[in-house]
Amino acid sequence: MAANPRRPAMNLIDKLPIDGHRVLIRVDFNVPIEGGDVADDSRIRAALPTIVHAIERGARVILCSHLGRPKGKPDPAFSLAPAGSVLAELLGREVILSDSPVGDGPTRLAKDLRDGGVLLLENVRFHPGETSNDDALSKALAALTDFYVNDAFGTAHRAHASTVGVTQFVREKAFGFLMAKEVEALGRLLAAPREGFVAVLGGAKVSDKIAVIQRLLSKVDTLLIGGAMAYTFLAAQGHRVGRSLVEEGHLGTARDVLSTAKRRGVQVLLPIDHRCATELKPDAKPRFVTEVDISDELMGLDIGDRTAAAYGEVLRAAKTVFWNGPMGVFEQPAFAHGTRAVADALAASSAWSVVGGGDSVRAVNESGKADAIGHISTGGGASLEFIEGRELPGLTALGYRRPT
Ligand code: 3PG
Repeated sequence: MAANPRRPAMNLIDKLPIDGHRVLIRVDFNVPIEGGDVADDSRIRAALPTIVHAIERGARVILCSHLGRPKGKPDPAFSLAPAGSVLAELLGREVILSDSPVGDGPTRLAKDLRDGGVLLLENVRFHPGETSNDDALSKALAALTDFYVNDAFGTAHRAHASTVGVTQFVREKAFGFLMAKEVEALGRLLAAPREGFVAVLGGAKVSDKIAVIQRLLSKVDTLLIGGAMAYTFLAAQGHRVGRSLVEEGHLGTARDVLSTAKRRGVQVLLPIDHRCATELKPDAKPRFVTEVDISDELMGLDIGDRTAAAYGEVLRAAKTVFWNGPMGVFEQPAFAHGTRAVADALAASSAWSVVGGGDSVRAVNESGKADAIGHISTGGGASLEFIEGRELPGLTALGYRRPT
């Protein structure tokens, strides 16, 4: 079969002679921790194919990840211990946790590893050199291993020591299976035909999503907008939005998006009804607003039922879907309806769909129909930057070049 010119060559872990050798695998175990436990293990599960492959090949597996933003010094609240326990359970084997990312302890543990053994280095962001992409830390990580594999797609947009610097000092480097799968799925999305291509974007701020919206306006034929950012769009159209979150500084941006969409023939749907409350507090009771305009004492916290039905209809007829960001304050059950409705509609649609971003992925998982989704991305920021067309340093460091 002729090589696909749109698919750049990716050197995969299965091409590396890792048997009986040490392999450092950069994973993204940046998982939510609640009460000392892992609240969502999707990112750990997603890394399993690469880890299991390395174990089955008899490699000595050294895993490296960050968790949270611990400011360059050890902080027990950000320990990878809970992630290590989940991994040990999933693998059904011991996972040794080092007490620091580099130094005498990890060096000894790496040296003592047996074939098929697994060592998890403590949070690499406990070292100040991680986020500054420091050469000394990069060299110390490289010194632990024979081969380097990056499977941390969620962190591919960060130029850090464990994603970029280390690659200069290792003998050989390769993609993990998850990294390759993410790049292929998101690449396929960008190459999809415009006809029947629907993007669903939610979340709090227009400013966080503006670059991706602008890029998608040349790709999609329908854009569905929800979440708090919808109120900036509604305000830009002259609607009353009450106390809803509005980015005053981005009203012009929202107007520009709407006029570009019109020029390009992209249909933009905004909420036509809402679930509201007088303020955002944990026990806030939902008030249903059945029209577009919201009165002065209320704030919109979720899309309403008619909006959810209209969005669902578009999704059921779609051929390709990209979804990022919740439709409302998803963490409060009273305002999670819209996000759940989108997850259900997507699962019922025959469209090939890609879902990215923590809350959207959680809604899909909770719908129990994750299998109906084409690709669930482990990257929030990374998947958005990929779609924006930006270079992801972690990919570039592996020798990846975007197809032209
Ligand atoms: C993420 O969750 O988006 C990645 O793990 C990157 O984390 P960061 O935003 O703290 O760099």
